[in-house]
Amino acid sequence: MSRPHPTMFEQALASAVRAPSPHNTQPWRFVLEGEAIEVWLDRERVLAVADPLAREARLSCGAAAFNAAVHLGADGIATTVRTIPDPDAPDLLAVIRLDGNRKVTQTDRDLAAAVFRRHTNRRPFLERLVPPVARVALKSAALQEGGQVEYLDEAGHFSTVTTLVRRAEALQENDLAFRAETASWMRRDTAAPDGVPASASGPPPYGSRAVSLRASHANQELPPREFEQDPLLAAVLTRDRGPHAEVRAGMAMQHVLLTATAAGLATSFLSQPFETPQTREALDRIFDGHGQVHTLLRIGYGQTTATTARRAVADVLTGRVTPDAPVR
Ligand SMILES: Cc1cc2nc3c(=O)[nH]c(=O)nc-3n(C[C@H](O)[C@H](O)[C@H](O)COP(=O)(O)O)c2cc1C
Repeated sequence: MSRPHPTMFEQALASAVRAPSPHNTQPWRFVLEGEAIEVWLDRERVLAVADPLAREARLSCGAAAFNAAVHLGADGIATTVRTIPDPDAPDLLAVIRLDGNRKVTQTDRDLAAAVFRRHTNRRPFLERLVPPVARVALKSAALQEGGQVEYLDEAGHFSTVTTLVRRAEALQENDLAFRAETASWMRRDTAAPDGVPASASGPPPYGSRAVSLRASHANQELPPREFEQDPLLAAVLTRDRGPHAEVRAGMAMQHVLLTATAAGLATSFLSQPFETPQTREALDRIFDGHGQVHTLLRIGYGQTTATTARRAVADVLTGRVTPDAPVR
């Protein structure tokens, strides 16, 4: 393969930064080292109250690494993504290396396009079941990255986990530090380069509901709406535990989210129980026999909502490829 061109990496990073992150904090920075992209954790953008151990931030960085690899893959460039810990650089989370050429499939193109369409949908979903074929595809997406998807209905954990979500939500509503941190990432201006704009909020829920989306993300100016009674909830797990399993889990999560988007499905997150110690321990116990649980996704059919802004690639990039690299 000929030498990489800087533009190629910049385009891969334009995909990387479309990754989801809690409150759109974008806790990443990238370094170009010859023919590799390094993905680093940006500690200044880790949520000190909700995510003191940076687990959600590492999931986000894993998702960003996956997006970059998907972009390159759809351009015919094979990559390997190394997520092995470096004791001298614990915040270096992943290294994406170019690995020759590859044949591009329709799935590659669909995933690459989904990077720019995927968004967190906090509105009610339709009362329409996700078909078995899509459920299987999402499981397979996670497996390809060394992760697992477990559906809460299949596993018999639906009511236990949704109760935990509601309990965590109540604890967080009464926690001033938690509320202040969340409020600091809410944005009035939809063009703000980070944080959650009002346009990304959902309506306040009306009547009884199976899931509790973050109350702080509800737009009180919208009329209340009923949410679906039977949402598909999926847990993303890995066999391994620890910081680098979180990066892999982020890659698996993103493969699931992009596969869902490509299949016309809407997605959102239910992270409240991961963010308070009591509920997190209870959640860990529920999934203990299966490995480490990293995130909970709500999946269904819904109307497309707006995407949110990101910081420019130039603001998250340091280093450069060798200046004499010819165009591919
Ligand atoms: C690990 C993780 C946890 C998240 N948890 C929540 C959550 O509990 N509730 C929520 O509404 N959004 C959650 N999000 C979604 C982010 O707020 C969202 O990704 C970000 O605002 C960017 O918007 P986008 O996903 O539409 O691109 C989470 C995202 C990640 C990666």
